[in-house]
Amino acid sequence: MKSTYVILAAGLGTRMNSSLPKVLHPVYGIPMIQSIVSTVKRLDPGQIIVITGRHVDGMKRVLDDRDIVYARQKVQKGTGHALRSARNELKHCKGTVVVLNGDTPLITAGTIRKFLMRHHKNRNFVSVLSFRAQNPDSYGRILRDSRRNVLAVIEERDATLRQKKIREVNSGIYALHPGALGFLDEIKMNKKKKEYYLTDIVDISLRRGKRTAAYCIGHEREFLGVNTKQELLQATRFMKERIIRHWIAKGVYFVDEDSVYIHPDAVLGAGTTLYPNVFIDKQSIIGKRVTIFPNVRILNSTIGNDVVIKDMTVIEGSVVKNKALIGPFAHIRPDSEIGSEARIGNFVELKKTVIGKKTNAAHLSYLGDAVIGRHVNIGAGTITCNYDGKKKYVTSIGDYVFVGSDSQLIAPITVGKGAYIGAGSTITKDVPSWALALSRAEQRKILNWAKKKFQTTDKKKKSKIKRKKEA
Ligand code: UD1
Ligand code: CA
Repeated sequence: MKSTYVILAAGLGTRMNSSLPKVLHPVYGIPMIQSIVSTVKRLDPGQIIVITGRHVDGMKRVLDDRDIVYARQKVQKGTGHALRSARNELKHCKGTVVVLNGDTPLITAGTIRKFLMRHHKNRNFVSVLSFRAQNPDSYGRILRDSRRNVLAVIEERDATLRQKKIREVNSGIYALHPGALGFLDEIKMNKKKKEYYLTDIVDISLRRGKRTAAYCIGHEREFLGVNTKQELLQATRFMKERIIRHWIAKGVYFVDEDSVYIHPDAVLGAGTTLYPNVFIDKQSIIGKRVTIFPNVRILNSTIGNDVVIKDMTVIEGSVVKNKALIGPFAHIRPDSEIGSEARIGNFVELKKTVIGKKTNAAHLSYLGDAVIGRHVNIGAGTITCNYDGKKKYVTSIGDYVFVGSDSQLIAPITVGKGAYIGAGSTITKDVPSWALALSRAEQRKILNWAKKKFQTTDKKKKSKIKRKKEA
């Protein structure tokens, strides 16, 4: 039977000193709650329930997932009270209930899987996932008897000096038999904090004679609870290190791993090299043996194999096929597609434009709403005039077309296969295949014009000087 996952995320996060709800703070670009939900999704969950406070709308917007059920905790009275707020949603639950804190974004699916295996194997009623902390200060301590059996979880503020020295702490992750949900009503309000602590469920379960255990699994780093901006920074650093290490193991080479950003959902191919200050944003897939030079930003794009992207280039919402060469200083805007072995050079801007295989647009062009075939040459300074102030129009350019430098193509317009456009032309009508289209004014020549101009200016200058002297 599938497990139900409950994520506690209604806390006010007062220690963050921020108007943004704590679990919506991004760790390395991803809101904490989203990280946890995507980890949970890897565990084949039955139902996912998120406990929220008044920021439920923001949470729904960030998660954007119809499968998630939201339960409202109107007043924040602690973690025990938070889980109790999902009483209705959990009423018919028959499988294990896994509870997670919304502020531990680094937790991995592998660790939760191991934990659940132990919980099920030992047929526990209540299990707690614990870890050994270098600095246990902000966590609840795991109390055990002389035979290492768990006794209770005690929070820092309620612990004696001796208990405070315990390094084994509560991760905030629990596995519960559905029968244990009844214990929630037995949790008493903590007198100091005026809150109902979920951690008390351990003691209650033991007192009821139920199998209860704490399992110390996984590495400290993945359980980091983010309560302050300082911890947010630390979590971001851990997440970054984890991602960079992962891609290094997969054969990616970073010239300077400290200065790059790789979004957690981005994918990089083996043999790819990233120079300093490269920013690979969400939903980006980079192929194998790609070279990305400094100061490049790629967002929501798919880059093929053996592509070279030179310095200062931005690529958004686009597809670049194998062996293409882009940049330096190229701007590839959404819905563009660059064919294999094509070349998009410096100061070229593309928007919603398809570039065919082996086509070149090497310098200083704007190509918008255009469909350009294969083996086309787009000369320097070419502009597709796609906008009349109200609507956008398409420019269609066939295979083997040669567009001379400094040409304007006034859309909607079609240039047939193999046609030539003379440099400096403004093309307003369709050009048939294999034709030459020219629209520049014919050149005039006026012999000795320049000589005469300089003679007259020289004369004027001399008379001016003369007049000054006389005055
Ligand atoms: C909690 C645990 C502590 C554990 C630590 C692990 C308790 C009493 N303490 O402490 O033993 O070591 O997590 O990180 O459970 N929340 C609600 N409603 C509330 C209060 C909290 O939904 O009324 C949510 C928060 O949004 C947060 C989570 O529960 O995601 C944990 O709350 P937090 O206040 O951060 O607990 P800690 O003091 O860190
Ligand atoms: Ca916390």
